[in-house]
Amino acid sequence: MSGSLVTVCYIAAIILFILSLGGLSNPESSRRGNLYGMIGMTIAVLASVFGPRVTSGGIVWIVGALLVGGSVGIYLARTVQMTQMPELVAFMHSLVGLAAMVVGFASYIDPGSMFDLVSSVPLTPAEKTIHHVEVYVGILIGAVTLSGSVIAFGKLSGKIGGKPLLLPGRHWLNLAGLIAVIWFGREFMATQSIQQGMTPLIIMSVIALLFGIHMVMAIGGADMPVVVSMLNSYSGWAAAATGFMLSNDLLIVTGALVGSSGAILSYIMCQAMNRNFISVIAGGFGSGGGTVVKAAGDGQPAGEVVPVSAVETAELLRDARSVIIVPGYGMAVAQAQHTVNDITRYLREKGVNVRFGIHPVAGRMPGHMNVLLAEAKVPYDIVLEMDEINADFPATDVVMVIGANDIVNPAAQDDPTSPIAGMPVLEVWKGKTSIVMKRSMASGYAGIDNPLFYKENNRMLFGDAKKMLDEVLAALKA
Ligand code: TAP
Repeated sequence: MSGSLVTVCYIAAIILFILSLGGLSNPESSRRGNLYGMIGMTIAVLASVFGPRVTSGGIVWIVGALLVGGSVGIYLARTVQMTQMPELVAFMHSLVGLAAMVVGFASYIDPGSMFDLVSSVPLTPAEKTIHHVEVYVGILIGAVTLSGSVIAFGKLSGKIGGKPLLLPGRHWLNLAGLIAVIWFGREFMATQSIQQGMTPLIIMSVIALLFGIHMVMAIGGADMPVVVSMLNSYSGWAAAATGFMLSNDLLIVTGALVGSSGAILSYIMCQAMNRNFISVIAGGFGSGGGTVVKAAGDGQPAGEVVPVSAVETAELLRDARSVIIVPGYGMAVAQAQHTVNDITRYLREKGVNVRFGIHPVAGRMPGHMNVLLAEAKVPYDIVLEMDEINADFPATDVVMVIGANDIVNPAAQDDPTSPIAGMPVLEVWKGKTSIVMKRSMASGYAGIDNPLFYKENNRMLFGDAKKMLDEVLAALKA
């Protein structure tokens, strides 16, 4: 494939990636967005593999790697549970970071990198300096992304505890690390040979790896969603840095798209959780100025709760004219979305106005609830964002909270000392009656008690969400 044809393919792939991002911003167009992304990536891979920069011997290696990587990817995509998606995403970010590091070292050691990749003319001193900056920055971002993502994977999968690790003087440690990285960068730029340059490069890599570990270890469990999307952004910048090292325009643009969209998503999530974006980017975020988030189960019961049965729940629903359903992580665990859809269809057929209220960080990943509801074929037009539906709770007869906890916790508004104080929440307690469906009085992700459970107009339907909803549906139809 000629160089100019490869450029045309790259432009087509970039356009498809942009269309893909546009499509993914709305549940209705997300399938189309995914399709654009898949076509774009296929074009990008084919153009790269069959382009002028890959020798026939190299193709064998690439096809071998594609087969291995593709098989692992297909296996993971088929076996991973929806609730394990965030940790899988964190794991994949770590691979992007690792790739940026490996490419950085290879590109530094490779004698061919001292020549222009296209014209084979030796690089000028200025170009060499630029190349060395690319290598240094690429390995730096890659190392932070790698170790940070591995820790995020550990925290999300429960292999590492969710409590923030707050080392004494941790901000000073970070600052010292930053100064050391700048110092060794200067040393690296001043070296004359590859052997000399390896020492500052390796020391910087170790510092960056430790920084990534320290940064994510200092973040509390309740703040992990922002970290995942922030690492998503970092992985994009790591890919863009790799693109600079390999002089690959497509990788630069794609990395920048991932980097900037990840940053925008982090910003939106920060707003949803009432957090400061700058402090997230600076790392060490979520420790609440030294307030350690309480461990799960720590919260003391603050009153009496009123349990209800599935039959009583069905009666309340039958008498209601308007119902809002608020799904949370528990709906995903119980895989109750199909029964939720059956109940929704039944009630709508009886003339009840049923709508869904979706919190931006419900579940364990951005869009978690939207994906589940779309899978169960709940119509998009009755699935509303928190801001669209919050004002409607006072005029709602029954609010059904299915396996949600933190996102409906009034303490976020009423208790300034709460770890989630200031986080916007769905104001379900303003409905005439709210019914919370969960298995026990256990806390949610943030590990704190929920005063909603003890409100006069609240009822508790204890049990697995799927099982209880099946019973509610049976009682409705009886
Ligand atoms: P949570 O606050 O985690 O509450 C989920 C509740 O579901 C738990 O209290 C649990 O109570 C219940 N549950 C679990 N399994 C269940 C089952 N089989 N049947 C019925 N109930 C079940 O969830 P949320 O309200 O969706 O809030 C999300 C939280 O996760 C926030 O703190 C958010 O910051 C955090 N987070 C979000 C993300 C993203 S991006 N969405 C990523 C990571 C973390 P029982 O054990 O008593 O049943």
